[in-house]
Amino acid sequence: MLDKGLRPRQLGDFVGQEKVKDNLNIAMAAARRRDEALDHTLLYGPPGLGKTTLACIIAAEMGVNIKITSGPAIERPGDLAAIITNLSKGDVLFIDEVHRLGRVVEEVLYPVMEDFALDIVIGKGAGARSLRLNLPRFTLVGATTRFAMLSPPLRERFGAVYRLDFYGEDAIKIILQRSARLLGLEAEEEGLEEIAKRARGTPRVANRLLKRVRDYAEVMAQGVITKEVALEALARLEVDSVGLDEVDHKILRTIVDRFGGGPVGLDTIAAAISEEADTVMDVYEPYLLQLSFLERTPRGRVATRFAYEHLGLDYAKGRPDQPGLW
Ligand SMILES: Nc1ncnc2c1ncn2[C@@H]1O[C@H](COP(=O)(O)OP(=O)(O)OP(=O)(O)O)[C@@H](O)[C@H]1O
Ligand SMILES: [Mg+2]
Repeated sequence: MLDKGLRPRQLGDFVGQEKVKDNLNIAMAAARRRDEALDHTLLYGPPGLGKTTLACIIAAEMGVNIKITSGPAIERPGDLAAIITNLSKGDVLFIDEVHRLGRVVEEVLYPVMEDFALDIVIGKGAGARSLRLNLPRFTLVGATTRFAMLSPPLRERFGAVYRLDFYGEDAIKIILQRSARLLGLEAEEEGLEEIAKRARGTPRVANRLLKRVRDYAEVMAQGVITKEVALEALARLEVDSVGLDEVDHKILRTIVDRFGGGPVGLDTIAAAISEEADTVMDVYEPYLLQLSFLERTPRGRVATRFAYEHLGLDYAKGRPDQPGLW
C-alpha cells in the first residue's frame, strides 16, 4: 500500500541505475520511433532494487498496458495461453521470478517470444491436432534474482538484459527524500542519512526503515525525523551500523562460531539458522557479498576478515589453522 504510492511511475523519477536508464531510454525511444513493441527485456538483481517498478515504468513510457504474473503462477501451457491471447499490440507482459517457469511452459514460450506464435494442441490421442495461433507483437519483461538459473534458450530470447546493482548511499538518500516528501514527513537531512546508511543499498529496505522511523518519530518525538530520532528508532529495530539485522548476524555467527569461519555449505548454514537455503542465497547473501563480509568458494561460504572485524572478533585468533598469517 505504502510502496504503491512511493513507486516511481516515470523513468525520470526512478533514482540511480543510470546505465540501465540510459540504455532503456534509447531502446524505448527507438521502438517508439519505429512504432514497434520494445524488445523482450530481462531485469535481474537482488530483491527490492526496482525490477517490478521498472517493468511498470516501461509500460507507462511506451503508453501500453501491463499484465503482471509470475513464473510459479503459470502452471500449465493453458495458463500461459490464456494470458497471452489477451494481450494487445505493444503490451508488456511482466513475468516475475521468470527462473521458476516450468519446463513445459517454458518450451511453449520459446516460439511465442521468437515468432509471436502460440502452438496449441487440440484434442487427445490419435485425433489430436496442432494449431498455430498468431499473436500480436508484445514485450515480455522478465525479472529474476537468479540469472544463472535461467536456461540458456530462455536467456537468449531476451533482446536486452539489464542488471540492477545495489544503490549508493547518495541515491538511497534521494529516494528517502522523495518518499518523505510523498508521505508528508518532516525529516532533517542528517536523519535521512542515518537511514540511508542502514538501507543495504536497497530502496525497498530504505522505504521500510523510513516508515518505521516515522512511527517512532510520531509517537516519541513530535513527528520530526532528526538524526537523534533516527538513531534511536534504528537502534530499536536492531539494525546495526551497516544495516545488518538479526538474520545476517546469525549467518555470520554460524560460519564463524560453529564452522571456524568456513568454508561451509549453504544448506548447512540455512539448516543451522532454520531458514530456507533460497532465502539465505537470494535475500541475505547478496548484501553480505557486497560488503565483502562473505566469500563464495567452491567448497562453501567463508567469512572474511571484514566480517570478523565488524563482529568485533580477532580474525587471527578466530582462524588459528589458516596459513599465511605471518
Ligand atoms: N530507483 C528507485 N527510485 C525510487 N524508488 C524506488 C526505486 N527502485 C525501487 N524503489 C522503491 O522500492 C520499492 C521496491 O521496488 P520493486 O518492488 O520494484 O523491487 P523489485 O526489484 O521488484 O523487488 P523483488 O525482486 O523483491 O520483486 C518500490 O515500491 C519503490 O517504492
Ligand atoms: Mg518485484
